[in-house]
Amino acid sequence: MVILGVETSCDETAAAVVRDGKEILSGVIASQVPVHAPFGGVVPELASRKHLEYIIPIIEKALFDSGIAAGEIDAVGVTRGPGLVGALLVGLSAAKAMAYALRKPLIGVNHLDGHIEAAFLSENMPQEPFICLVVSGGHTALYKVEPEKGNVLLGATRDDAAGEAFDKVAKILSIGYPGGVAIQNLALGANPKAIHFPRSRFDKDSLEFSFSGLKTAAANFVRSNHLSAEGGKGSESLLKDFAASFQEAVVDVLVEKSILAAKQCGLSSIAAVGGVAANSRLRERLGQAVLAENLHLYLPPVKFCTDNAVMIAAAAYRTWQRLGPQAGMLDIDAFSR
Ligand code: KG4
Ligand code: ZN
Repeated sequence: MVILGVETSCDETAAAVVRDGKEILSGVIASQVPVHAPFGGVVPELASRKHLEYIIPIIEKALFDSGIAAGEIDAVGVTRGPGLVGALLVGLSAAKAMAYALRKPLIGVNHLDGHIEAAFLSENMPQEPFICLVVSGGHTALYKVEPEKGNVLLGATRDDAAGEAFDKVAKILSIGYPGGVAIQNLALGANPKAIHFPRSRFDKDSLEFSFSGLKTAAANFVRSNHLSAEGGKGSESLLKDFAASFQEAVVDVLVEKSILAAKQCGLSSIAAVGGVAANSRLRERLGQAVLAENLHLYLPPVKFCTDNAVMIAAAAYRTWQRLGPQAGMLDIDAFSR
């Protein structure tokens, strides 16, 4: 079964053609980073306008690259939410129009299910059930993943998402957007123990997260040390050490809680997905931790961690396998949260 996937929940316009949820025939992304970078974050109205400009050419390119004619598509899968409603509506409208014109079913996909599906795009297939750390700009949560039975939420952030913390700290410093990438690059070769930042753990058995205290501590450090994109108190090394120490504080908690979740559930496999799972330090530290604990780690390639349509087409295929065609899909609406 060949599915055309469409994703426009935030600032990437993406389309992909995937056969049977696994064989990637094409995957195309138009990034809006240059559009939002001057603002240090996504401007929803600009995102919608750019999606409108890119969506048709991106779908055409995904079809062209796949070598599949539009008429050979068996279904269209599209992100319904959560995300920016104006942005979602562009992809949803385009997907509905395609499905209607081709007389093919439309499959609505939850963006988080898409990210979780990316775990199955790792080099090796994770054995179910497994622990999945979902870390993106909007979410930080641990799930017990068993798609056939329904994924179980084990714990989530009480305030900011990890990616949001990266983005906000990067914005205070004006070091670029997306913040996670900017901080990761600054942190390269710097000392992650140079500055002590708080780690919120709640009680020792808790699988919940909190990053607002860390964000405030980081913002206070920036202010009191006059840190900026040019460096701190005139020193570039302080800025780099700040980035490495901040990143380490985020990574420490994400790694610890993922291992704790695996132990509590008696599971031996952990996957990490979502934009922050692209972080090289998180990938390295998770690798070390699973080795020490004799567990298995599944990480999708970086390109399937950040928003993409391959994961949406794959998740649509899973929905189709579970539920088959559903009536009234052309009436589905976008949702923000
Ligand atoms: O999954 P995603 O592309 O979109 C959402 O669903 O939110 O995640 C975007 C988030 C942003 O907060 C971005 O700063 C973060 O992922 N991110 C990273 C890295 N690449 C993207 N965070 C840390 N390190 C990275 N290399
Ligand atoms: Zn996402």
